[in-house]
Amino acid sequence: MDSPSVEKIHTMDKEGNEITSVGFERFGFDSAVQLDVLRSLYLRPHYVTTIHSSLNSPKLNGGSSKREQEEEEHEHARFIQGFGLYQSKSIYHPDDHSISYTTLSRFPPVKLLAPDKRKRILVTGGAGFVGSHLVDRLMLLGHDVTVLDNFFTGSKTTVSHWVGHPNFEMVRHDVVEPFMIECDQIYHLACPASPPHYQYNPVKTVKTSFMGTLNMLGLAKRTKARFLISSTSEVYGDPEVHPQTEDYWGHVNPIGPRACYDEGKRVAETLTYGFQSQDGVDVRVARIFNTFGPRMNPFDGRVVSNFIIQALKGEDMTVFGDGKQTRSFQYIHDLIDGLIALMNSNETRPVNIGNGDEFTIGEFAELVRDVVEKVQEEDGCKPARKVEIIYGPIPKDDPQRRRPDTTRAKETLGWQPRWTVRMGVEEMVRYYKAKMAEGSI
Ligand SMILES: NC(=O)c1ccc[n+]([C@@H]2O[C@H](COP(=O)([O-])OP(=O)(O)OC[C@H]3O[C@@H](n4cnc5c(N)ncnc54)[C@H](O)[C@@H]3O)[C@@H](O)[C@H]2O)c1
Repeated sequence: MDSPSVEKIHTMDKEGNEITSVGFERFGFDSAVQLDVLRSLYLRPHYVTTIHSSLNSPKLNGGSSKREQEEEEHEHARFIQGFGLYQSKSIYHPDDHSISYTTLSRFPPVKLLAPDKRKRILVTGGAGFVGSHLVDRLMLLGHDVTVLDNFFTGSKTTVSHWVGHPNFEMVRHDVVEPFMIECDQIYHLACPASPPHYQYNPVKTVKTSFMGTLNMLGLAKRTKARFLISSTSEVYGDPEVHPQTEDYWGHVNPIGPRACYDEGKRVAETLTYGFQSQDGVDVRVARIFNTFGPRMNPFDGRVVSNFIIQALKGEDMTVFGDGKQTRSFQYIHDLIDGLIALMNSNETRPVNIGNGDEFTIGEFAELVRDVVEKVQEEDGCKPARKVEIIYGPIPKDDPQRRRPDTTRAKETLGWQPRWTVRMGVEEMVRYYKAKMAEGSI
């Protein structure tokens, strides 16, 4: 199996310095984690060994010859390199397309924190794309983490490497229903975020935004936990002001196809500040701009995953519209840094968290094609033909431009994005490539 060698990847930040760790010590909260440890949780594919003939090889590999076993052990050792202790090894049976899973032999090491530093943290939507990266970080930092998720768009597999860890708990629950737990901080992320998912059942999306936030704010009020909501740049709608500062009120179509999400988040913010002024709940509001990274659902129609998957499969890349509409993309680790900094700061106003580097969608498609070609060449699998970029009709209410003004985050949190889009895309390409090799895409 073709696997990325985590140790060989050098990631440079916007200043040209190598990124070896993410996070920082700020507001009395240390969020720093080594990048290679974090990477080992998502970039290295789950090790799957294939048994080629079920006629000769009974399940669980009991019947392989000594030589086969030795070869396999050698291959496994090569594959896991420095992370052997935290790897599970599963066996794939191609004849009946089944897999025998194993569990981890040892969890990745987490920090040992003094009781007054160790927080009980609830992450709603913790099995989703953003949530799972936040959970990885908080777990490695040594906190007690509870994931609450109904698995509508998230999956248990995103955090399964923590199942059984004494600091970790996973609860299947819908935030539309009340939930009681003791906690110190609540990251309220539960809400489908991609258009096909939130448009699948618009009424449910509004209920999740409104009732889910109501329930979690009620919990924060009772437990006196600090509450952070993951709001969105969609509250600005199709903006008439560029870049968007937090003071801009937005330009949202209240009855369009995106309204269930946009208006849902707007009312969720209103509710959040209502609980702050009426009940003294300690709140934080993050307005997140387009984010991408490993564990994004490859088929939910978001532009980054669409482009990468198409290019990796050698299919033509589809740009909706004329490709002149612009977007800015931030990499997941920058977002997690921003969310943790905001949660632990004293900033109670809304804060934009995003990367201001603006690309037209056409330029972005070219960048993705470039990076995919580079990674394929490095791995010695040059594609047979160059993929083309083709243009299709633009969806209704698709914003023409959106770019964050992140001055507030810089001034009050000391936060600004470090990852270039190219570096993020490269990591994403390696992740999807590994998933394809593993057979899970
Ligand atoms: N990814 C982005 O670019 C982006 C941008 C702006 C805002 N956000 C916000 O960040 C949060 C996370 O987004 P994501 O990209 O990880 O999306 P995601 O769909 O991957 O994750 C959302 C998670 O919430 C869970 N969920 C949905 N409805 C629920 C319910 N009723 N009860 C319990 N759990 C529920 C899902 O199962 C999933 O695990 C969302 O609130 C989203 O609005 C994300």
